[in-house]
Amino acid sequence: QTGMFTYDPGFLSTASCQSAITYIDGDKGELLYRGYPIEQLATSCDYLDVCYLLLKGELPNEQQRNDFHKLVINHTMVNEQMQFFLRGFRRDAHPMAVLTGLVGGMSAFYHDSTDINNPEHREIAAIRLIAKMPTLVAMAYKYKIGQPYMYPLNKLSYAGNFLRMMFGTPCEEYVVNPVLERALDRIFILHADHEQNASTSTVRLCGSSGTNPFAAIAAGVACLWGPSHGGANEACLNMLEEIQANGGVAKIGEFIEKVKDKSSGVKLMGFGHRVYKNYDPRAKLMQETCHEVLTELGLENDPLFALAKKLEQIALEDDYFVQRKLYPNVDFYSGIVQRAIGIPVNLFTGIFALARTVGWIAQLNEMIGDPEYKIGRPRQLFTGSPRRDVPPLNKR
Ligand code: SDX
Repeated sequence: QTGMFTYDPGFLSTASCQSAITYIDGDKGELLYRGYPIEQLATSCDYLDVCYLLLKGELPNEQQRNDFHKLVINHTMVNEQMQFFLRGFRRDAHPMAVLTGLVGGMSAFYHDSTDINNPEHREIAAIRLIAKMPTLVAMAYKYKIGQPYMYPLNKLSYAGNFLRMMFGTPCEEYVVNPVLERALDRIFILHADHEQNASTSTVRLCGSSGTNPFAAIAAGVACLWGPSHGGANEACLNMLEEIQANGGVAKIGEFIEKVKDKSSGVKLMGFGHRVYKNYDPRAKLMQETCHEVLTELGLENDPLFALAKKLEQIALEDDYFVQRKLYPNVDFYSGIVQRAIGIPVNLFTGIFALARTVGWIAQLNEMIGDPEYKIGRPRQLFTGSPRRDVPPLNKR
């Protein structure tokens, strides 16, 4: 029994840590940030409200909300020298390779003024990371397409600023589409934190050595890139486009059979989860957001959205998926809505990293803020050779 939640002893013996930030009930398909259901946060708050909640444990009142929004917006610019990191990359470098480098590079500017054991320093590092990630992701995109970087504009919202830094140019006024702005803000909320997933555990383990938070977050970015984790949204869209190119809905049955044939190595990307053995609540909200954006853009008949819904319906009626409790996860629809917003496929995981930065830094600060914390040191079950002597060379 910890707080109002009860766990079986077996679970507690394998738990990697205690945390008060995010709670997931995989069987019920429930996700709470500091006790608030994701469904309510996604419809009643904006992303910076959720950042405040994850960092401080409570939702902000009006004054706290205004102060926090202003604090973050006023830290969105990056040191002018950061742009020179990009020049070392090939233009066709994957944006996640660039982002891993840029976030790690932030250490070069801020680590010597950041004592991770100082609560105020931890707070300003969190603000800097949350504020600058959109600028860095947009810079990685602009570098790739050869357009000039756009400076943040403080009068815009967090999501509006990101849209303008991504799709605006110095040549003309960029008008933020409020539907896309709201959709992007909701995508950020849905990805903000998720308990001890692979990349968060990476950040905790890396940060437990006392390294600076920017280096620890860079480790999280690198881990998130994997196709089994944050890279699944990119992999899922590529999967949908391939099915579409090979015949679309008529070919779903054939694709499902290939997935069920383990020897094919083909997975239904965007399906399944280490914890959710029920519908990922974020997937439902992402599908709704997808519908809103596509309708607003006059793309409600987007063939890929229709294909995804049909694929989900067929999979959820198929014993292979039902018996294994495989349901859509957050990545199943997120690619379709990001593509509709205009975000290139290979930047989807960069958006995930942007949104998850607050979860990573909140979890890192929670760990470092516990005076009892020690450096992480996972143990192993040794399965190698017992002790033996080195034979002379002519006896090997
Ligand atoms: C994220 O941890 C988090 O919280 C992560 C995340 C977050 O917010 O941080 O939620 C974000 O990473 C979501 C997951 C995104 N990844 C994908 O969508 C990639 C496709 N999914 C799989 O690779 C897989 O489902 C995992 C990696 C997510 C989970 O894999 P597991 O732990 O092997 O799943 P499982 O133990 O529940 O699998 C049970 C069975 C196995 O088959 P059997 O050995 O029982 O015959 O289901 C099979 C698996 O092979 N299976 C799948 C499948 N996922 C699991 N078969 C086909 N397609 C799939 N997607």
